[in-house]
Amino acid sequence: MHAPRAAAPAVVLAAALVLGGAGAAHAAPGGPGPRWVDGATTSTDLYFPNAGNGGYDVADYDLELAYDPASGRLDGTATVTLTATQDLRSLSLDLRGLTATAVSVDGKPARFAQTPPPEDGRGGELVVQAAPKLRAGTQHTVTVVYGGVPGQPLDIEGANYGWTSTADGALVANEPEGASTWYPVNDAITDKATYTFAITVPEGLTAVANGEPVGLPVTADGRTTWTWRASDPMASYLSTASIGDFVQTTSTGPGGLPVLDFVDADVTGRALEVTRASLALQPDMVAFFEGVFGPYPFTSTGSIVDDDSVGYALETQTRPVYSGYASEDTVAHELAHQWVGDSVTPDTWRDIWLNEGFATYAQWLWSASRGGPTPQEQYDAVYGIDAGDDFWSVAPGDPGAADLFDAATYDRGAAALQALRTRVGDDAFFQVLRRWTTENADGSVSTADFVALAEQVTGQDLGQFFTDWIDTPAKPSGY
Ligand code: TRP
Ligand code: ZN
Repeated sequence: MHAPRAAAPAVVLAAALVLGGAGAAHAAPGGPGPRWVDGATTSTDLYFPNAGNGGYDVADYDLELAYDPASGRLDGTATVTLTATQDLRSLSLDLRGLTATAVSVDGKPARFAQTPPPEDGRGGELVVQAAPKLRAGTQHTVTVVYGGVPGQPLDIEGANYGWTSTADGALVANEPEGASTWYPVNDAITDKATYTFAITVPEGLTAVANGEPVGLPVTADGRTTWTWRASDPMASYLSTASIGDFVQTTSTGPGGLPVLDFVDADVTGRALEVTRASLALQPDMVAFFEGVFGPYPFTSTGSIVDDDSVGYALETQTRPVYSGYASEDTVAHELAHQWVGDSVTPDTWRDIWLNEGFATYAQWLWSASRGGPTPQEQYDAVYGIDAGDDFWSVAPGDPGAADLFDAATYDRGAAALQALRTRVGDDAFFQVLRRWTTENADGSVSTADFVALAEQVTGQDLGQFFTDWIDTPAKPSGY
């Protein structure tokens, strides 16, 4: 769903040469007709072009996974349902550190090749030759049998991400482009899809993914298969399939919303107390954020809380992951992301402040409702940072690929929203927030879209305001 806005540049691939594909597209003789191309091995993302590919749009991933925590080996069969957006003679999926052993297109064995990741270890392509070729506008399934040991992948900042093994399983958090460490994927932030996961683990362990369980777990020969379905469109960075010695608790939120929590038995003592108290607030938080952003966008919510192997939390769709423990602030932050980030998703990683600034602002609203500092007090603390401080040298609207999670995208982004609120007034401000999340539900957005909405609701010219707060690597002059 949601193909990149512009066609990706054609790239001549080593693999295409190995497989005998010529670099240039051939025009069919006699005028209009298929112009067969090799789908791009890159996306149009401004920060992570190696993640994502061109020429097709994924509708659904069906992932059958088997994980052996003792050896760290992951085996999978991925069935990717996609629609060609160009006339394709080949297409590329992102796959890193794992080996494909068989590929078929629409059930017919296909030729394929894997290119090693570039030197920085990011990237890694599985190029599939389509025979017969895929006409633009037609839907197909690509099935990949693959496996290997994911190891402990690191993101561009050196933090654990992707398929991260833990003492008793795995904690999976892909942001920004770590999904390819565990399945073949169009790892573009713009290509949302639905997912089915069937995860087989040693008997006694529990596997948890996005969405809701399908049926009961099935045990045979000492292994148990857990099946999950995520029926709302989801960006690949928000997918998870985490495995552990989880204790499940179930409650309900507003309107009967299922709240499914999975806390690993490794979380004990004070960490467990804090976690339990924070998770118990989720139904109230959903109700609170519905008051700000409109209806909860998905079919369930909850959490996965595991040991400290990853070291941070992530807003994995319907079921955020928490590493070590879950504080109240962090649960509020990840839950708010379900609206801002997961349902309404930036169309390029450069616009990450649309996730982090908004979730931080929502977290400020929640803590104020609980007797904590007001958003204005939070703003004052941020604005009190000296103009010469490095904090102001990062523009939230273009932090750079290695600084996605800089304080600028969180705190300066949230302060920008409070400055906007002061400038336009509460009525207009909260109308903007609510329209942003309801009108763009399940969609992809840009900073320009937000500026346009704010200008439309308020009737004000806010160009200079957003330039100062979002695009300029210097301290703005207040509001
Ligand atoms: N997006 C996550 C959040 O704010 C944080 C996150 C993802 C992160 N990857 C990271 C933080 C790496 C530090 C390092 O909820
Ligand atoms: Zn966040």
